[in-house]
Amino acid sequence: MMIERPRRLRRTETLRRLVRETELSVNDLVYPLFVAEGKTQPISSMPGQSRWSLNDLAEPIAQVTGAGLPAVLLFGIPDKKDEVGSGAYAENGIVQQAIRKIKAQAPDLVVIGDVCLCEYTSHGHCGLLNEAGEVLNDETLELLARTAVSQAQAGADIVAPSDMMDGRVAALREALDDVGLTQTAIMSYAAKYASGFYGPFREAAESTPAFGDRRGYQMDPANAREALREVRLDLEEGADIIMIKPALPYLDIISRVRELCDVPVAAYNVSGEFAMVKAAAEKGWLEEPRVVMEILTAIKRAGADIIITYHALDAAQWVTE
Ligand code: PBG
Repeated sequence: MMIERPRRLRRTETLRRLVRETELSVNDLVYPLFVAEGKTQPISSMPGQSRWSLNDLAEPIAQVTGAGLPAVLLFGIPDKKDEVGSGAYAENGIVQQAIRKIKAQAPDLVVIGDVCLCEYTSHGHCGLLNEAGEVLNDETLELLARTAVSQAQAGADIVAPSDMMDGRVAALREALDDVGLTQTAIMSYAAKYASGFYGPFREAAESTPAFGDRRGYQMDPANAREALREVRLDLEEGADIIMIKPALPYLDIISRVRELCDVPVAAYNVSGEFAMVKAAAEKGWLEEPRVVMEILTAIKRAGADIIITYHALDAAQWVTE
């Protein structure tokens, strides 16, 4: 009997290269950076990553441009936090200053600002609270819009709302257009799950909620159809890029969203996904470059056009090797 022999095309590396379906490129990768007041400090739960002071920021930016990465995503950690997160939309806020610095050093680098209040609020929630400690939706939108406008005015090419309030994409679009910032793109964290994988990030950004959790606004990990609804709404409101977050436990969502829409799809390979690989590699239990390339290729294979990852600088090296 004639049997099918798929192994014929796996016989040599050159044959495998010829039939490879998915190839990771530096052009797919975005490097997240934390900018903080005070001195540069390493983040212990994210080996190799730091909270950069404005004075030292030139160093990672030179690495990013040297590696040929197209974009960075910025998070700010302010000196002082308050109930209304005023550091997020201050004209001279930490992120606004960082954006201006980066644009002066590397005008062609795409700068994406994370738009959220949680790093800036004393209670650590992503929006304004009422007396019962509930996160207010529509009252928060105005502050998010101010944040986005201030980042765009500082020079951000893309603003990326990560708060999961309803209607924020429309609110941001309207506010940006109102001041003539029609060319600033919106990358919406459309399907952002209430995930345990954000743990190391919250240590880095000191943004762990002081009480309660984020399940009242971030999505239930058990839901897939709801993600499609979130994506549809964000597209109707004018999102230019749709993001899924986290990435690895949500490859099914990435794949379904890819089929649903024709805008670029981004996936965020988050801090906890990064920390797991780093910890296992440190113990000698996993081979880091191989596992990282497998993970990032899998995220792309699932349908992501853009991958936001703390491995970006390393992976940029490994894709060209
Ligand atoms: C919120 C925000 C978070 C992350 C990105 N933006 C944390 C959260 O929702 O608690 C997580 C990123 C990561 O874990 O790498 N501004």
